Amino acid sequence: MIEVDALTKVYPGGIEAVKGVSFSVDPGEVFGLLGPNGAGKSTTVGMLTTTVTPTSGSARVAGHDVATEPIAARSASSVVFQEQVVDRSLSGRRNLALHASLWRTPAARIDELAASFGLDGLLDRPVETYSGGQCRRLEIARALVSDPRVLFLDEPTVGLDPRIRHELLDLIDGLRDGGALTLLLTTHYLDEAERLCDRVAIIHRGEIVALDTPAALRSALGDEIVELRVDGDGERSLVRLRDQGVAGEAAFAVGSTLTLPLANRGAAATIAEIEVLELPVTSISTRRPSLDDVYLRLTGGRLHEAA
Ligand SMILES: Nc1ncnc2c1ncn2[C@@H]1O[C@H](COP(=O)(O)OP(=O)(O)OP(=O)(O)O)[C@@H](O)[C@H]1O
Ligand SMILES: [Mg+2]
Repeated sequence: MIEVDALTKVYPGGIEAVKGVSFSVDPGEVFGLLGPNGAGKSTTVGMLTTTVTPTSGSARVAGHDVATEPIAARSASSVVFQEQVVDRSLSGRRNLALHASLWRTPAARIDELAASFGLDGLLDRPVETYSGGQCRRLEIARALVSDPRVLFLDEPTVGLDPRIRHELLDLIDGLRDGGALTLLLTTHYLDEAERLCDRVAIIHRGEIVALDTPAALRSALGDEIVELRVDGDGERSLVRLRDQGVAGEAAFAVGSTLTLPLANRGAAATIAEIEVLELPVTSISTRRPSLDDVYLRLTGGRLHEAA
């Protein structure tokens, strides 16, 4: 449903925002682009929705080339941008109706969408009186007015409080019902990608550094991880742990935190071996690997801090 081949974008001034990304998304799939601020997520979505012109490479949406058949590509898809696009001075209903007239959508569809997005009570109020979560729901409903085959959601939950965020995640999860819709969403929240996506591409500085199911990405690190905090430079402790055969290739250090995937080793035995080495350990714990670990291992940067 989406095919991306060696797509690049160089903005004026030589900023290489996207450096040759390739991936494809199956019909009915929920696909995530996960990456920190500035990774190139919105630029990629922009190229797939024809608002950004690719510098090179190609992309097709529902079989239509975004560069040579932009109108066809655009009419098969819909997008909820990172920035708000609804008119805040108008009511929710008016916003939906304007969009519906553009797409010749029957008025009954508006009520149907409003009901399924929990908007019916608010539809006749100006959007400026909506909360952030209500506004997001309206934007998603608006995007679905055209009955798209592909829906792009650029950071759908950014800026929402945790409870509203979880409600919205449920709602997005509900969109996959029946598999008629293909979804591509971007996020820098790992839990969001894990919860919603069938597959995730981790994007870092304009390049895809990993692409798989969330479970497979995590399983590259085994079932369990030992996390150590040390006083001072983590790299130095990591070298000792490697020399002593306690840490393997998959282990990594960021600042003073060391992450040791256990592979087939036991946690208790590993912790005992670490204690013998008398490193300047300030805390030690075990946990299951997360996508955060996958990202850190691949990029050496914290997802929320990396620029
Ligand atoms: N119109 C533009 N002109 C010049 N540079 C741009 C433009 N839009 C984005 N960039 C640059 O391209 C890079 C990628 O930006 P992009 O918005 O695609 O990242 P992102 O992954 O969506 O980040 P965020 O999580 O902050 O939304 C950044 O370095 C950004 O500054
Ligand atoms: Mg963005």
